[in-house]
Amino acid sequence: MANDPSMDALNKLKQAAAYRAVELVKSGMVLGLGTGSTFRFALERLADLLNRKRLENIQGIASSFATEKMAKSLGFPLTTFAIHPKIDLTIDGADEIDPDLNMIKGAGGALLKEKILQQVSRRVVIIADENKLSPRLGTHGPLPVEVIPFACRIEEIFLQSLGASVSLRMDVDGSPYRTDQSNLILDAHFGPISAPKNLAVLLNERAGVVEHGLFLDTTSDVIIAGTKGIKHLRRGVLNLQTNPSKPGHDRTNNH
Ligand code: 5RP
Repeated sequence: MANDPSMDALNKLKQAAAYRAVELVKSGMVLGLGTGSTFRFALERLADLLNRKRLENIQGIASSFATEKMAKSLGFPLTTFAIHPKIDLTIDGADEIDPDLNMIKGAGGALLKEKILQQVSRRVVIIADENKLSPRLGTHGPLPVEVIPFACRIEEIFLQSLGASVSLRMDVDGSPYRTDQSNLILDAHFGPISAPKNLAVLLNERAGVVEHGLFLDTTSDVIIAGTKGIKHLRRGVLNLQTNPSKPGHDRTNNH
């Protein structure tokens, strides 16, 4: 089958962003391993550098069964929170990124574990091609909301009451998509979201919502690959939940 040139070009951008992020990895680090087609390039690169001993003593915690499987197939060492409850650096993709470096994630269904990884990471580096940049979250696509099956209809009605048109995510075989935790995903189409923080608060209060795809104030670095080159955007003030006593700690000079 002939290669799709536009796909090739897109994959080159994803790879460029991923490789740039991997340059931030140092021997001895514990890494948070994201999920998705952009992150795959980072994992392949990391495994290659480990094999060639350009990096040593690296271990990762995977954000999905898919990433875990890929890591094992590449011989990439994995660890657990029981052994390493803190992560030095997480690399992950995103679906939509706004000018404040807030994001929507979860098109790949791994939002719950991805958010957990980010919340215990000293540094979070998001990698994406320029198509993921968005003037306002919700402009490009839906907000994924992971719900327990018991509450699915209730949370669907709640999301509709907030103005979203809601669809239950389906798998390729026509059955409802199940997350790694065997939950369901409601894709909530809000259109451009005017107050993502307010929406996040509302969703956080819902007992039936396990997690949602609004990732606000969680990222320290965003690496965007575009046709004109790579941009490394950094957030000046962090609000990482690993260090609540220092919510404004500035890490911009770390690298
Ligand atoms: C999975 C995610 C992914 O990081 C996001 O969907 C980006 O994926 P891709 O790099 O394939 O576009 O949030 O839950």
